[in-house]
Amino acid sequence: MKIKNICCIGAGYVGGPTMAVIAQKCPEINVTVVDINEKRIEAWNDEDVENIPIYEPGLSDVVSEARGRNLFFSTDVDAAIDQADMIFISVNTPTKTYGIGKGMAADLKYIELCARQIARVAKDDKIVVEKSTLPVRTAQALKNILDNTGNGVNYQILSNPEFLAEGTAVDDLMDPDRVLIGGDIDTEEGNEAVQALVDIYAHWIPEDKILTTNVWSSELSKLTANAFLAQRVSSINAMSELCEKTGADVSEVSKAVGMDSRIGSKFLKSSVGFGGSCFQKDILNLVYIAKSFGLNEVADYWHQVILMNDHQKKRFAANIVKTLFNTVSGKKIAFLGWAFKKDTNDTRESSAIYVADYLLNEQAEIVVYDPKVKKEQIYADLDYLNSRSEEENRQRVTVVNQPYEACQDAHAVAVLTEWDEFEGYDWQKIYDNMLKPAFLFDGRKLLDRKKKEEIGFEFYAIGS
Ligand code: UDX
Ligand code: UDX
Ligand code: ADP
Repeated sequence: MKIKNICCIGAGYVGGPTMAVIAQKCPEINVTVVDINEKRIEAWNDEDVENIPIYEPGLSDVVSEARGRNLFFSTDVDAAIDQADMIFISVNTPTKTYGIGKGMAADLKYIELCARQIARVAKDDKIVVEKSTLPVRTAQALKNILDNTGNGVNYQILSNPEFLAEGTAVDDLMDPDRVLIGGDIDTEEGNEAVQALVDIYAHWIPEDKILTTNVWSSELSKLTANAFLAQRVSSINAMSELCEKTGADVSEVSKAVGMDSRIGSKFLKSSVGFGGSCFQKDILNLVYIAKSFGLNEVADYWHQVILMNDHQKKRFAANIVKTLFNTVSGKKIAFLGWAFKKDTNDTRESSAIYVADYLLNEQAEIVVYDPKVKKEQIYADLDYLNSRSEEENRQRVTVVNQPYEACQDAHAVAVLTEWDEFEGYDWQKIYDNMLKPAFLFDGRKLLDRKKKEEIGFEFYAIGS
């Protein structure tokens, strides 16, 4: 089976970059990305390709090559579904904020809406690919909806979890460690559907990196991969607290431990806590699934990864208060960075949000500079927590476009994101314009301690 038309529902951090790369690599396939968010689609179609709604290194080049040729962005979801042979679902699946499983389970309402829409519109057989991270067995739910409310056409459901990391999305898509495709491999139709998707990726990925398996293993592999990655960060962060007490340096520990080839060196960077839309959500999902099968020890084991992460954010903020003579009330604290990691404008679950919330509860004044995050986003993140009124957030938090302005007259500067440009600033100038003693808190172990101490900063870094 040869795929000619692809539709992707959801033009977000996953759907947008993934489809742009598929379109670039498969010029004979038409790829239409649809979304109900009109502003987002407008931005994807912006004549100036630098205005696309997602910042990823290299993405604008890929989009400008394929857009209008075989890559289209549209709000006409029905038309795109109707024309497609293969439909990717990459809508958001946030943690539930209400009802059973609140704060734990994934909210599948957007997925279900998609399934019902596909069922209503489709007049011929379709392959439906779940791309969003989903709890195990979602494919079955999708299939039930499609088969029971559809127009009698046949559906093959595939699971094709996305492993790209934000900030390196284009590189990860171009040269992935592996591609995982789950399908109904016990049947001929299922195998054909799997092969159709393999053929797409084989345009640019060696076949030995394309793994095929059954749907359940595929779904669970995605959750497991993210849980393991997050666990490494919590493990090294747990050691960072011990390092601070004992005079060891967590970077030295990471290096020594990471050189053991059984452990490996990646993902051992201590930080103010992991953020992003996936880690916490996926682990909570895993915990929820384990509990629902009565596997309490399994659930508790993974839940500890989240508890450790919450602790790390809190203790970073608490250390700022303690160091500033036990009060930050009315004091100006400059935040360098708001995104959950460098090279992205995404702020979902960013540690900066929680550190800010803690300090605002202590009546601090916060000034934020982030190279890519917009002012409205920062306010939206704080408002979403519901800790105080929207007016108060705007009174107490200022967002500026210039790092030196952020640090002017500050009592303390805190590095929350590891943007490369931060180390290159004129730190003497920053120091000269701060109140004294000038406190500097490095939540990313990014800055050179010795140089900062020579200038005169009171310097604190995670894990040393
Ligand atoms: C370990 C460390 O590997 C070594 O670096 C240190 O110096 C001493 O402790 P050892 O206890 O000899 O070495 O054996 P190891 O191969 O690490 O196995 C430890 C246990 O883990 C064994 O019972 C092994 O069966 C088990 N194991 C190991 C697993 O169950 N699964 C695995 O994937 C690996
Ligand atoms: C993650 C997975 O890496 C990716 O495979 C999956 O598809 C989606 O979730 P992402 O959330 O985009 O990707 O970014 P990632 O690089 O994994 O970082 C997640 C968080 O962990 C960030 O806040 C980052 O700063 C933090 N982190 C990462 C550390 O604190 N230390 C590390 O060593 C690595
Ligand atoms: P992710 O990181 O998983 O890509 P995002 O929130 O960035 O998540 O993107 C998901 C996109 O899916 C959003 O732009 C949202 O508007 C879109 N979306 C959600 N539900 C639907 C739907 N039923 N039809 C079309 N688009 C949808």
